Amino acid sequence: MADLSRPTAPRIIAVANQKGGVGKTTTAINLAAALAELGRNVLVVDLDPQGNASTGLGVDPDQRDVTTYDVLVDDAPLDEAIQNTDVENLSIIPATVDLSSADIELFSNEKRSFLLHDALRQVAIDSYRFHYILIDCPPSLNLLTVNAMVAAHSVLVPLQSEFFALEGLSQLMLTVREVRQTANPKLRLEGVVLTMFDRRNNLSQQVEQDARDNLGDLVFRTIIPRNVRVSEAPSFAMPVLSYDPQSQGAAAYRALAEDIIQNRTQQAA
Ligand SMILES: Nc1ncnc2c1ncn2[C@@H]1O[C@H](COP(=O)(O)OP(=O)(O)OP(=O)(O)O)[C@@H](O)[C@H]1O
Ligand SMILES: [Mg+2]
Repeated sequence: MADLSRPTAPRIIAVANQKGGVGKTTTAINLAAALAELGRNVLVVDLDPQGNASTGLGVDPDQRDVTTYDVLVDDAPLDEAIQNTDVENLSIIPATVDLSSADIELFSNEKRSFLLHDALRQVAIDSYRFHYILIDCPPSLNLLTVNAMVAAHSVLVPLQSEFFALEGLSQLMLTVREVRQTANPKLRLEGVVLTMFDRRNNLSQQVEQDARDNLGDLVFRTIIPRNVRVSEAPSFAMPVLSYDPQSQGAAAYRALAEDIIQNRTQQAA
């Protein structure tokens, strides 16, 4: 049994795929909630100007005083940016649309790719005793996503179970390789998780087969089914694990959390 009271440095996971609407935010929110339910202390960093993770975890726009923009652009201290959520053990650094101009504002900053990395390694982070930090990336391979990859130990890639799902993956992998070569040699792939899977749909099964043929063990055994409760939960400002704990979606994210914890144990061994 792991000793939960004494986390070593937090494991930082970037949830990334430049394709829009594939389940990045849903995975970040619900995986975070599932890890929190298992007693881990978890921080979600909303790195998307859309702010969907912030909304989905119940942080209203008028409560977003200190945001990821302030952390990246104005060096705001983490302890001012981190907020509790209604979920026990789960905190968030929220985002607002301000973040959309960060790319341009940071253009001439020499350390522009390292800003999140440096922020998440502030001494203050230790006092929060996080076991996991999940970064919800925007649908782009821009400076924000690069910041996430430079800051992270690993990249978790949600793959929507539909036509063209694998298209664009090679570009994503190329970015991972570039970040490894330039800034973060230890960056790993946490894995690829199939999302919005529909068992009755041949196409979903075809995508699963293609993904397993091409990516092998990188593809998690756990699959996230298409489940209406998952899509309803954000409008109630909660993870599906709180909104409908018995739903198939909640069960799937619990299973994924177990996989992630096991990955970490294996890597530590
Ligand atoms: N397992 C699921 N079952 C049903 N609906 C889902 C599931 N996962 C995600 N969705 C829905 O699909 C849509 C896209 O999901 P999400 O916002 O998580 O994707 P994203 O990759 O973060 O999008 P973006 O690229 O815009 O940030 C949302 O409406 C979400 O509620
Ligand atoms: Mg999103």
